Amino acid sequence: MDKFVVEGGARLEGRVSVGGSKNAALPIMVASMLSDGQSTLRNVPALKDIKTLSKLMEILGSQITYSDGVMTLTTPEFKDFEAPYDLVKTMRASVYVLGPLLARHKKAKVSLPGGCAWGPRPIDLHLKGFEALGAQVTLDAGYILAEADQLVGTDIHLDLPSVGATGNLMMAATGAKGTTRILNAAQEPEMPALADYLISMGASIEGGGTSEIVIEGGKPLHGAEHRVIPDRIEAGTFLVGAAMTQGDVTVTGCDPDHLRATIAKLQAVGAQVDVGEDWVRVRSTSKPKGLRLTTEYYPGFPTDLQAQFMAMATVSEGVSVITEEIYRDRFSHVPELNRLGADIKLTENIAVVEGQPHLSAAHVMATDLRASAALILAGLVAKGETHISRVYHIDRGYERIEKKIAELGGVVRREDEPLVT
Ligand code: EPU
Repeated sequence: MDKFVVEGGARLEGRVSVGGSKNAALPIMVASMLSDGQSTLRNVPALKDIKTLSKLMEILGSQITYSDGVMTLTTPEFKDFEAPYDLVKTMRASVYVLGPLLARHKKAKVSLPGGCAWGPRPIDLHLKGFEALGAQVTLDAGYILAEADQLVGTDIHLDLPSVGATGNLMMAATGAKGTTRILNAAQEPEMPALADYLISMGASIEGGGTSEIVIEGGKPLHGAEHRVIPDRIEAGTFLVGAAMTQGDVTVTGCDPDHLRATIAKLQAVGAQVDVGEDWVRVRSTSKPKGLRLTTEYYPGFPTDLQAQFMAMATVSEGVSVITEEIYRDRFSHVPELNRLGADIKLTENIAVVEGQPHLSAAHVMATDLRASAALILAGLVAKGETHISRVYHIDRGYERIEKKIAELGGVVRREDEPLVT
């Protein structure tokens, strides 16, 4: 198993380009299964989650090629309709296959994803939505079985603007008879991106990116070409790295419009932010100030950058208060940051962070994708060499992160960590 060794005392400086968004690419790959035509996706990041989903789709009948960011996908017919536990447990986004399987194959069997390191993470809204569209949904031996001879469009009001439920129901609704309106839909940029791809396949969708999405189902769908949007979370991770190391980083190939809440918080801690059409530059010459931050649905501050901003708060001037409202238990990075000398006190979903003059290197463990990114950032400002175990989490969602940090002057070495038995 690999580990990272991070040398402390870095000042990140230079230019770095971001890759395609994992969370946009995953539902779009799955959506290609709605037609038997060939789709070509560009700017697809080389990530473990992308490989895991490709494997699942190949089991279901897709033929997929991937080279240098370009992916072709064709699903002439479904060979199977079951997403097995072994794959779903490693990647929750596997539940996206429910929508296209139901719409085109009329039947889907998908393992329930179960909880994760930071809470229960239910998918009840996906299932209620499928039922509203006329599917019969049953749960048996840890699996969801959904069936429908013909989905029928209807109004679906989501209790919460869930990204996954919005995407899954948008895909299913393209195969439903009549009109579906998804109300209180998620507005995260990955959802209008999915709507754009579906439209280029021939679907009739209005309102992608707003809280009300209207889908006129039953249009014949064909393969399409699509470029995956830039990863706003990868971009945000490098920008916060610039602010906390008092550096000067220009992130290129990003969409600054998707980063508005992140940029506002970086300005609030005292960083200078310049924005171009597809780049953002963050400069800082003094310690960041403490901040108040609450995660929210888009366009609010993203939960996927909460851990990285907390890493910054550990070395900020004064006290920060960070409230997690999307996943109230998403704090597995807190004990690890405290091992590095941070002072974080957690009460329910509120973390109070007392900024320290510096952190001190230690051995820590990556516990999930974004927590791993936070530990790398913390390692860059700690005194000494921080060893981070279980970095397979980071390979799920960051492409060559150690190389990109090296381009900015930081030192992160990937080393083999022998298993202790
Ligand atoms: N929720 C329900 N019931 C549901 C679905 C969601 O109660 O049926 C709740 C969740 O428990 C959570 C909230 O609604 O409290 C939002 O969850 P959402 O469904 O929006 O999240 P998701 O689709 O499972 C995606 C990203 C996550 C990101 C969240 C929030 C993908 C593959 N995953 O998850 O990304 O944190 O949206 O923006 O797109 C990551 O990349 O590290 C990551 C975890």
